[in-house]
Formats: sequence, C-alpha cells, structure tokens
Amino acid sequence: MDASNHILSLDQDPFSEIATFHRDCHARYDRVRDKGVAFSPSFNAWIVFKHNLLHDFFGAPESFPVIPMGQDAPEPARTMLRLNMLANNGEAHRRHRSLVQGFFTPQAVRKLERDIEKIVDEELAVMAERGEMDAVRDFSFRLPVRVIVHMLGVPLDRADDFSTWGNWLVKIGDPSFDHLPHAATIEKVFGEMLDFLREQIEDREKSPKDDLITHLVAQKATQPWLTFDDIWTSITFILTAGHETTTNLISSGILTLLKNPDQLARLKGDMSLLDLCIDELARYEGPVSIAVPRIASHDVTLGSTSIKAGDVIIACLQAANRDPEIFDNPHQFDIFRKEKSSISFGYGPHFCLGKHLARLEAKVALRQLFTQFPDLRVDAAEMENPVWQPLIQTRGLKSLRLYAS
Ligand code: HEM
Repeated sequence: MDASNHILSLDQDPFSEIATFHRDCHARYDRVRDKGVAFSPSFNAWIVFKHNLLHDFFGAPESFPVIPMGQDAPEPARTMLRLNMLANNGEAHRRHRSLVQGFFTPQAVRKLERDIEKIVDEELAVMAERGEMDAVRDFSFRLPVRVIVHMLGVPLDRADDFSTWGNWLVKIGDPSFDHLPHAATIEKVFGEMLDFLREQIEDREKSPKDDLITHLVAQKATQPWLTFDDIWTSITFILTAGHETTTNLISSGILTLLKNPDQLARLKGDMSLLDLCIDELARYEGPVSIAVPRIASHDVTLGSTSIKAGDVIIACLQAANRDPEIFDNPHQFDIFRKEKSSISFGYGPHFCLGKHLARLEAKVALRQLFTQFPDLRVDAAEMENPVWQPLIQTRGLKSLRLYAS
C-alpha cells in the first residue's frame, strides 16, 4: 500500500486541536479508523486505531516498549516516570508488578466492598444535605483517592494532599503538558510528598500494620534490590494510575446513564445488571483515550504499515472500542450488548493492575447514588455540551452539576 495513504493531513488528524478534541473525538476517529494505523502530524507518531491490531501491539512489549515520559520534568518526577512498572519490561516489570499485585486480585478487592460503601455514603451525605453537588469535585474525584489512602493505611485527613499530588502526577505524565513553566511547583509538590512518604515508611518499619505500605516495606527482607525509590514510586504510580481513571469512569458513567433513561430504568429495576453496565461504560466512554506512547525497538509491520525502529506509536483505545468490525452499533450505549472485547484496561503484560478495584468502586458509587437519589437530574445544557478536562491521554468531565430532584 502507498505509505502516503497512512499519513493524516492536519484536517484528518483527530488530535490536531486539543482544546476541542473531546467534544467530537468519536466522529474524528470514525473518519480515520479504517486506515488501521496512521501517522499523526500533531503527535509526530503512528496511531493505532483498529481493534484487531491492538492485541499484536500490547502483546509484544519488547517490540514496542513504553517511552519514559516527561524527560524534561525535574527530579524526582523523572525517577517516578522511569522506575514505574509500566515503563519497564521483562524482569524489571515483573519484579515491580509483583510487589503490589497481591493487593489487587479479585479476592483481595472483594474484601474492600464494605469500606468502599462506607466512603461512598459519607461522600453522598453532601448531596443529601444540599440537594445538589458537583459529581466530579464532590464525589467521583474524592472516592478513588480515599480508597487508595485507606489501602495505604494513611490518615484520612491527608486525602486532600494525595488528591493534589495525584493531580500533578497525572499532568506530568500527559504528552500535552509543558513542564518547564511549572518546574518550581513540581519540585515543591514532590518535596512535600516524599517527606510524607518517607515518614510513613519509617513508621511501618518500626510498627508494622495491615496495609499496603507495610506490605511493601516487609518485602525488603526477601527482595534485597528494593530501595526507597522503588517503594515510593510504587505508591505514587498506583495513585497516578488509579485516581483520574476511576474518577472519569464514575462521572462519565453518571452522565451516560442520565442520557440513556431507558437503560438507567432497567438498571434501577435490577441492580444485578451493574457488572454489565460497568463493562459497557468502560467501552463506550473509556477513561483512557490513548495508552502511554511506545517506541518501535526495530523495523516492524503493524497491519499493512511499515514502522521504522525508533518511531513512536500510540494506541487509541477509544477508537478501537467503537470499531464497527467488533461492536454492532458502536455508538450506542447498550448494557446488554453481546460483544465483550473492550480494550479499555489495556492488554498483555501491562494489562491494568487495578481493573477489579476500579470496577468495584464504580459499581458501589453508581449503585448507592442511583438508589439514594432515584430522581437525579442534570441541566439540559450540561447534558448536551459537557465540559471535558483539557487533557489528551484521559477523557474525563471537568464538572457535572447534579440535582437530587
Ligand atoms: C495499566 C486503564 C484504574 C493501576 C493500565 C492500562 C490501562 C489502564 C489502559 C495499560 C496502559 C498501557 O499499557 O499503556 C485503567 C482504567 C481504569 C484504571 C480505564 C479505571 C476505570 C486503575 C486503578 C489502579 C490502576 C484503580 C490501581 C489503584 C494500574 C497499573 C497499571 C495500569 C499499576 C500498569 C500495569 C503494568 O504496567 O503492569 N490501566 N486503569 N488502574 N493500571 Fe489501570
């Protein structure tokens, strides 16, 4: 095939206008998906749009290793971006993933349901009291960070600090973020965060508890390679990977259900449909637009596209999740759909570690919200023109005002 067919013009490039990107990203993907893989001048990278190519891509991490992001970020942000499990393959990846994976198995996560429900109910008390709330600021943004703080065994009054830190961690890993103007703030934020984590780690060395920090510290006895940098980067990466993503799934989920009253009515009538509903929400409004950029380790062919060693490649999960070759009526939200091949949580060795936790949080959040506030509504204007966060890697609402009746 003629290689020029695979080079997008700026008009065709879905990522050419970041400010308006989320308003019509699905229509933009529709225009280019059939190319399979195409070159985006905005990203100076190859983008994989077709679902069937993503398994080859994610399944071959040695051919397509993650590019350590934020090369211009100040230390210690660079350490986190270099050491975290997603940035490593093979033995280094396995070692870092195995440090924490016991906390994220379906069995381990299931035990958290009561605690999550308690947190959700505490957050929903605001709605009960005022009759309205911002679903993002007052609810979906607060829940994942409180769950992570709970798992770490950190005092709850530090949850706001973790939110602030988490916000910065997400920004510094986003390809559209310019670090230089924020270097001093990033250094300050990391300074505070590391001082706090060092204290917590020393505390668990002296007085072990039943929490994730103790679990990490205890592994020093059997894993002599484990340093302070490995421990704090594991903690901060869980915060980065698990905060914004889960926030987005919950808030986009609320909006999607309110926009689809027939499906919401079925759900309210039978909350056992929640698992199906979460599957479909993750497909329809997946919180991760594009996965972390990779680099070709040698000349490779993806679909019919030849890619040179050193070229950058990005997987567009949202385009793949609405690929009509895989999903019937892909732009329709349908909790009863038969096809279950959504790729929202990635695939292969870097498959999302927190999938079960994110799903449980979303499930409890939606169940409690729609049970306690059955007449929930949102302004028509906001329903039609929601305001999205101006980030490219993730897709999430900036705010969503909800009214109890
Ligand atoms: C990896 C999506 C929630 C922890 C990933 C990847 C995706 C993803 C697509 C693969 C990235 C890539 O290969 O470039 C999501 C979505 C979530 C979510 C959509 C919420 C709806 C969470 C949560 C946690 C978490 C709650 C933990 C608290 C991780 C980790 C990795 C990862 C540690 C890296 C795994 C590895 O490199 O082996 N996630 N995630 N995620 N996720 Fe999630």
